[in-house]
Amino acid sequence: MTALDLSSPVAVVGTGTMGQGIAQVALVAGHPVRLYDAAPGRARQAADAIGARLDRLVEKERLTAAERDAARARLRPVEELTGLAGCSLVVEAILERLDVKQELFRALEDVVPDDCLLATNTSSLSVTAIGGALRLPGRFVGLHFFNPAPLLPLVEVVSGFATDVTCATRAYETARAWGKTPVACADTPGFIVNRVARPFYAEAFAVYESQGADPATIDAVLRECGGFRMGAFELTDLIGQDVNESVTRSVWQSFFQDVRFTPSLAQRRLVESGRLGRKTGRGWYDHGEGAERPEPHTAEPARPPAYVVAEGDLGPASELLAMIREAGIEVREEDEDNGTRLVLPGGGQLVLADGQTSVEFRDVVYFDLALDYRRATRVALSHASNTSPVTVAEATGLFQALGKHVSVIGDVPGMIVARTVARIIDLAVDAVAKGVATEDDIDTAMRLGVNYPLGPLEWSRRLGGGWACSVLDNLHECDPSGRYAPSLALYRHAYASDLREGSA
Ligand SMILES: NC(=O)c1ccc[n+]([C@@H]2O[C@H](COP(=O)([O-])OP(=O)(O)OC[C@H]3O[C@@H](n4cnc5c(N)ncnc54)[C@H](O)[C@@H]3O)[C@@H](O)[C@H]2O)c1
Repeated sequence: MTALDLSSPVAVVGTGTMGQGIAQVALVAGHPVRLYDAAPGRARQAADAIGARLDRLVEKERLTAAERDAARARLRPVEELTGLAGCSLVVEAILERLDVKQELFRALEDVVPDDCLLATNTSSLSVTAIGGALRLPGRFVGLHFFNPAPLLPLVEVVSGFATDVTCATRAYETARAWGKTPVACADTPGFIVNRVARPFYAEAFAVYESQGADPATIDAVLRECGGFRMGAFELTDLIGQDVNESVTRSVWQSFFQDVRFTPSLAQRRLVESGRLGRKTGRGWYDHGEGAERPEPHTAEPARPPAYVVAEGDLGPASELLAMIREAGIEVREEDEDNGTRLVLPGGGQLVLADGQTSVEFRDVVYFDLALDYRRATRVALSHASNTSPVTVAEATGLFQALGKHVSVIGDVPGMIVARTVARIIDLAVDAVAKGVATEDDIDTAMRLGVNYPLGPLEWSRRLGGGWACSVLDNLHECDPSGRYAPSLALYRHAYASDLREGSA
């Protein structure tokens, strides 16, 4: 099954933010494009706006003037739905309401030919439910573009319960022919990206709600230690707290209030107060004129320890041993079965975040997971109130000697990056096991859709297949609500990797 022929007319219904972007993509790819919007005159305005964007592409030399003129000539706004007769593909990007979308597609079926592919750009509704209203639901598919559609490459191609494989494949190939990177996924709440990304926001908000750290510190740790492009607080201020919360609520409701997707009370209050982020001038942060961004917590300089005793290889943090030596600090190695800690001269221990709390142990300081300890510019430490100040100072001085800023946070199990990454891996592994998408497609979706530095499955391979499961097992002991309970799929993933690693 091949992509739609470039001579086939494509219709875009709903010419707001997404509709305009999608229309531009189809137009630049070479299709004749028709625009329709329920609001009178809006399709014409959208055509003008797209024309202006094509002009800018010419200024940036991404399009020749001749290509722009040809594209403009292919673009036709229409004022009646009947103007879409003869189209080969309709992409809908209207109001996010099931009844309104169903009504539109029912009306469209009376206008377009029976072999016209019908697609919805819904973010949160069930593709199956929208298509359920159709006479021919087999030709109905989800084509979920990301905003801004002309710039972001990812498109989730969602097969509803009744979608014909040939139609999904045609939609997939068409998206690819338009220069996009399509991923195939089943019709489940949040599809791939909005499902697997939930813990990125939820865990940051949970750390904040438990007084573990303030937004600026959590964001700095996610960026500078975790390797994420933006922190959860600044990103949701950009997206809009109302928009981000409504996706969370919709995924949670659609999963029948699965505790793993529970929305955040702190974010609820923010939305209720009208602090929606950049668009209202205030969200987690003040975005008003001249407002200064609060600084993350950064520890004062402390003296590095003269030596450390390494028990075991530190697992995912093993690179630290070489870095400590390079910083001129002696590393005394002791063979310890299952040992993964550094013992400091004062007798305290430094342990990679493992989902437990420091208060359970005598004199333990935890350090957070980094994407890459060499490139990280900040590392978070956590400790209990009964941890010796000498241990905290030695741990702080050690990381500072490696050139890192140190943020000391509360005694939060799994800290910031470790709990976030462990939960993202769990949801990704669970989604693969439930047939939502392949491992590769999930990795691609998370890298391109939300800019993660690594795909979750790739991250899991790097950390060792059992890592996320063991962190979540510990977190589940601290919070037995079920939010952190590893999925059966994650246990299988952990055992299978143990076997592979054991037999290697
Ligand atoms: N904005 C995003 O970041 C984003 C990203 C991915 C998907 N989506 C999805 O895309 C869709 C559109 O979102 P948007 O942000 O572009 O909305 P928008 O409000 O910018 O535009 C919606 C347009 O649809 C028109 N419209 C409403 N009802 C209509 C009807 N019955 N028939 C024809 N036109 C109608 C409106 O007049 C408006 O011009 C939604 O389903 C949304 O969930 C949005």
